[in-house]
Amino acid sequence: MCGIFAYLNYNVPRERRYILEVLFNGLTRLEYRGYDSAGICIDSSNLASISNAGICIDSSDLASVSKDLSKVPSNSVRPLVFRQEGNIKKLVKSVSEEVAATDLNLEELFPVHAGIAHTRWATHGEPAPRNSHPQSSGAGNEFLVVHNGVVTNYEVLKETLVRNGFTFDSETDTEVIPKLAKYVFDKANEAEGDQSVTFTEVVIEVMRHLEGAYALLFKSWHYPNELVACKRGSPLILGVKEPNEHTNSKPLYDPKFLKKTDEPKELFFSSDANAVVEHTKNVLVIEDGEVVHIKDGGVTILRFDHGKDKHSGNLTRADSVQRALSVLDMEVEQINKGNYEHYMQKEIHEQPESLRTTMRGRLIRGGSCKAKTVLLGGLKDHLKTIRRSRRIVFIGCGTSYNAALAARPILEELSGVPVTMEVASDLLDRQGPIYREDTAVFVSQSGETADTLHALQYAQENGALCVGITNTVGSAISRNTHCGVHINAGCEIGVASTKAYTSQIVVMAMLALAIGGDTISNQARREAIIDGLVDLPNKVREVLKLDEEMKDLAKLLIAEQSLLVFGRGYNYATALEGALKVKEVALMHSEGILAGEMKHGPLALVDENLSIVVIATHDTCFSKQQSVIQQLHARKGRLIVICSKGKASMVCPSGSCRAIEVPQVEDCLQPVVNIVPLQLLAYHLTVLRGYNVDQPRNLAKSVTTQ
Ligand code: F6R
Repeated sequence: MCGIFAYLNYNVPRERRYILEVLFNGLTRLEYRGYDSAGICIDSSNLASISNAGICIDSSDLASVSKDLSKVPSNSVRPLVFRQEGNIKKLVKSVSEEVAATDLNLEELFPVHAGIAHTRWATHGEPAPRNSHPQSSGAGNEFLVVHNGVVTNYEVLKETLVRNGFTFDSETDTEVIPKLAKYVFDKANEAEGDQSVTFTEVVIEVMRHLEGAYALLFKSWHYPNELVACKRGSPLILGVKEPNEHTNSKPLYDPKFLKKTDEPKELFFSSDANAVVEHTKNVLVIEDGEVVHIKDGGVTILRFDHGKDKHSGNLTRADSVQRALSVLDMEVEQINKGNYEHYMQKEIHEQPESLRTTMRGRLIRGGSCKAKTVLLGGLKDHLKTIRRSRRIVFIGCGTSYNAALAARPILEELSGVPVTMEVASDLLDRQGPIYREDTAVFVSQSGETADTLHALQYAQENGALCVGITNTVGSAISRNTHCGVHINAGCEIGVASTKAYTSQIVVMAMLALAIGGDTISNQARREAIIDGLVDLPNKVREVLKLDEEMKDLAKLLIAEQSLLVFGRGYNYATALEGALKVKEVALMHSEGILAGEMKHGPLALVDENLSIVVIATHDTCFSKQQSVIQQLHARKGRLIVICSKGKASMVCPSGSCRAIEVPQVEDCLQPVVNIVPLQLLAYHLTVLRGYNVDQPRNLAKSVTTQ
């Protein structure tokens, strides 16, 4: 849901070309967060070179370009704003064209320069240059802002600003922010008579008026070469790079590192670590309420308590805080596609390794070299409470919800605690019951999904023990839950979640083992599951060999209007998740159906024109699935059956359907194996149908708006 990025070089002279490159690369890394439109702001010290084009260059809207150069003091750097509808490639192209047309010197050297950038997933206002960021305070671009999040009270703020003479150019909620900054700045200077108000004071005053979620980066020509960032609810990190730093250098935990010095350094703000790791591994995860000010090589961090300080009326009320840097546990290779065409493809094929990483150090082997037990360090102090809970409630959205659904039966079986499921938004809509005696488990790849985060807040207010299962260390969900487990699947960049799904299921199977008592009666079952977990990466490697077969199947299905997927038991979740993958990337209607419900409605859809996937691997539901297949067959449905290896003849007598044979594993782990052919099918269907695999239409990863 939008990505924001900034780059500031201090005492490291950089050409404009380099600055542009860093901003564009940063945006490209964040593009999966939104790709409706994009924009950047850089400086120019050369007035003549830009006078033809003006200050604000919206490439599709040159006529409305601001010509108000007189507003910018002649000794100041001039902010140049480029905004473009479409993806980053389009922005790069339009900037190159504008630069060529305006003889803007790409070799111009800046010893200090602060640039900001944004890639947008549209919430308020259609994708168009005027709705793209940076949003501006008005003519002259005194204050410029890039924003990730949603300002919920923007209408009220807009009315007030309009009454005070401001005019608005966009339909965005964001535009009130730079305009409010200008209002605050002008008012303060009116009162003081000179420019004594600091950049952070302006920003804190703006924060005092904002409701909703935001990560914001401010730039202003009143404060040349300074940047201010702040956040509430949306993620933001700061990367700090010293020259000659190698990416795997030792951690610099000393807070003095952030102090003002003349040492050269480069600083990066980003919505996530992907865009920073290629420059530095030394980062600061900015917390809610923190305001980070960069000036003259120093980083000052102030804390603004929205609840407490909102009505203080004191412009400067914020405490200074000392924070230490941490080191990213991430390699640049993880964020590259390697030899694959697409991130989704890479992430599907990475699953044997990601599953291994998920389990590393968590399965404890006994004397007989067999894995005997499970150790989830993040939960060890809370297991007793979880066991004694009145119920366990899984809460998540989309794929993360499906992963929890896949794990639900094994949790019920091993823990004996009732397990219920909640889609985060639905729980909030209903204000459904959550009790002090509940354990609420929040499942989220990004750890930043707004619906899940709000549900977390709701569960906390109701006194439940909150457990996080996320892939993102330092994310809002991992920070705000009482305890949790990181799935350690590695960076997932494709918008369609694949490897996170399988790792989530494995973590929840381990959670079931950790909660469940180790009694004599269930010992054999536990050992079988643990042995199954150990061998699971090999089984997934085996099922990945179906790649070509799934490509052939995709060729057959390429022109279908619709695809139904039937599953039950452990594999009801597989049906939902398989259908979700097909619809979100291949843009083909697809529906996951609980096979037990077939006769209660969906059967009416079935005829010789309908393609149907039935998941019928060998478990306790197998015979029921055999009868579902017969009934679908009797209505002439075109059947594709996912079955256990060697069992094709039991599900497709006399070749009546197409069988996809997968390795059989322990029933509760079978969803991990069974989803892989459907991931491959969705991937190939998308490529064959000519759609964007990694950036499906209208979607974005990490949904940080409700
Ligand atoms: C689908 C997909 C989404 C996410 C959902 C929750 O492929 O990725 O359905 O699963 O938006 O996101 P997280 O897991 O980050 O909370």
